[in-house]
Order: sequence, then structure tokens, then C-alpha cells
Amino acid sequence: MKTRITEMFGIEHPIIQGGMHYVGFAQLAAAVSNAGGLGIITGLTQKTPQLLASEIAKCRALTDKPFGVNLTFLPTVNAPDYPGYVRAIIEGGVKAVETAGNNPSSVLPFFKDAGIKVIHKCTSVRHALKAQSIGCDAVSVDGFECGGHPGEDDVPNFILLARAAEELTIPFVASGGMADGRSLVAALALGAEGMNMGTRFIATQEAPVHDKVKQALVAASELDTRLVMRPLRNTERVLTNAAVERLLAKERALGANLKFEDIIEEVAGVYPRIMMEGDMEAGAWSCGMVAGLIHDIPTCKDLIDRIMAQANGIIRQRLLALAG
Ligand SMILES: Cc1cc2nc3c(=O)[nH]c(=O)nc-3n(C[C@H](O)[C@H](O)[C@H](O)COP(=O)(O)O)c2cc1C
Repeated sequence: MKTRITEMFGIEHPIIQGGMHYVGFAQLAAAVSNAGGLGIITGLTQKTPQLLASEIAKCRALTDKPFGVNLTFLPTVNAPDYPGYVRAIIEGGVKAVETAGNNPSSVLPFFKDAGIKVIHKCTSVRHALKAQSIGCDAVSVDGFECGGHPGEDDVPNFILLARAAEELTIPFVASGGMADGRSLVAALALGAEGMNMGTRFIATQEAPVHDKVKQALVAASELDTRLVMRPLRNTERVLTNAAVERLLAKERALGANLKFEDIIEEVAGVYPRIMMEGDMEAGAWSCGMVAGLIHDIPTCKDLIDRIMAQANGIIRQRLLALAG
């Protein structure tokens, strides 16, 4: 399937694996890229630019296909060494970057000069338009369903993608709630030129996370996510567990007085414990409502082949037969 996204990134299928903290290592990114999608290494999971440079080199050894790096701009007090990460990406010869969080205007000129294509992930039409106006090549439009940070507008993808299609001229992919061939066809129908998946890619053979994380996704239903940190205007969709329910109880009790320090135990530094050690009650971890559509743990290749076969089948058989 050819779209402006497959052409832009030099990939076979219009499927991107979004950056994921402590999930997006070289092993997963390479598996997605080898399967014809665009795998993405999560930049900030690597503690230093030097470590990111080695992760990029590792990915290059695992695939000769294009892959990207995610650079997330976080609302943190001690900003990471962003110039160092940008250098590691450029010197590593990476050709695609997924930016997320804040406006990427400070890093964009460096990537542009290096011929790197930038896809900015955002959760509203106004941010997508901003990304387009500053020169991003594409956007990933992340609906309210998504795992991670859905923003504060709460617009689900049926509306958000159609609105994005009304306003944007650069290509965009649908992100949030995407799981299978049905998602891809729906995304295309709404005007997207591909899809970005996060949660679905965690439940794959190659995702380098503890098996308990994958099993938790298979067991979860679409009712099992919660929104945390809304009072801090840093809303995150996570899978419920005892720590998440404790966090929500604190939010209810403290109301407008809630501060980050009050919930630090449930959110800070918990990713390595969950993703690597499988300590499933350690804290809050991002997970989309799409968990309800995850029933197995295939290889990335099987997953992507299945998505493309299902999408092509829906278009050729079901939709063509329905057309008047
Ligand atoms: C465990 C997990 C960690 C994530 N970490 C990041 C991150 O560090 N940076 C980022 O831009 N997005 C992050 N995301 C968001 C994904 O890249 C993607 O936008 C989102 O998962 C799409 O929604 P879906 O989960 O419904 O597919 C994360 C998502 C998950 C599930």
C-alpha cells in the first residue's frame, strides 16, 4: 500500500511504531522496520546521548530498513541534554524523527539541514496546524483513546482525524486506538495516510519488556484504563492497578491542591520496574483503550502482515461490494 507516508519514510506499509518509554529499544524498532513498518527508538529512555548513539548503532546492525528516533519534550525541571540527543540522531544517520510533547521548533532546523523527516505527534488540530506552519513534514494525530498523554481536549479520533483532514495539507497518520486492519482502513477513510500504534506493539514477541506486561495487555479490556494527573494538566492514560487507584484517591482527596510531589511514588521512575522487572503494581504506566482489542502476542511481522491482509481484504471485498 502506497501513501504519502510510505513514500516520505521509504517504508512498505503505512504503519509506525510510536516512541514508548522503556519499550522502544533497538530490538523492537528493528523488528517493526524489518516487517515493513517504521520502527522508532525512544530517545530519552537512553540516559545519555552517547547511549542513544549506541542504541542507534545496534538498530542499524539489526536492520537495513529505515527506522526513526522519538524525541519527547517533557515538562521537567532538569531538561535532558537535547542538543546532545539531536547530535546523536544526526551523526547516527537516522532519517526519521518523531517529536512529541512541546513544539519542536528549537530542534527542527538541525533535522531539516540533515535531511531528516520530522513527524510531530500532537493531540489537537491547533497543534497539528502549528507543526505544519513551522515546517514539520508530517503529523501523528493522537486521539483521546491513546495510551500515554492524550492532552486536555478529550477529542476522540472519529472527530479529531476528520477535523485534521479538513485543515492540514501535510500528510498525517492516525494514532490512538489503532490495532488491526479495521483500524487502518478506518484511519484511511478519515483522511489519514497511515497509522501509528503504541500499546499494540508492546504485546509482540520482540517487545523487550517483561512477559507479565504483555500478559496484562492480553487480559485487559477497553474498560481498564484510567486518566491520571488531570489536575496537573499533564493527563496520562494508564492501565489501572493498585498504585493507579491509590493515585486517583489522592487526586480526589487533594483536589486543586494536588502537587506532583504528592504522587511521585506512583509515577516517578516506575518504568524500569514495570517494563523490565515485571513489577506490575509498581506504579502508573501508559496504556491505551486499545488493550481491549489485544488478544495475542504475535511477532511484529505476523502482526503487520495480518493488518495489511485484513485491511486489503476489507477494502477489496467488503467496501467495494458495498459501493453503489
Ligand atoms: C508504555 C507507553 C509508553 C509511551 N511513551 C512515550 C514516550 O516516551 N514518548 C512519546 O512521544 N509517546 C509515548 N507513548 C505514546 C505512543 O507513542 C503512542 O502515541 C500511543 O501509544 C498511541 O496510542 P495507542 O497506545 O492507543 O496505540 C507511550 C505509549 C505507551 C503505551
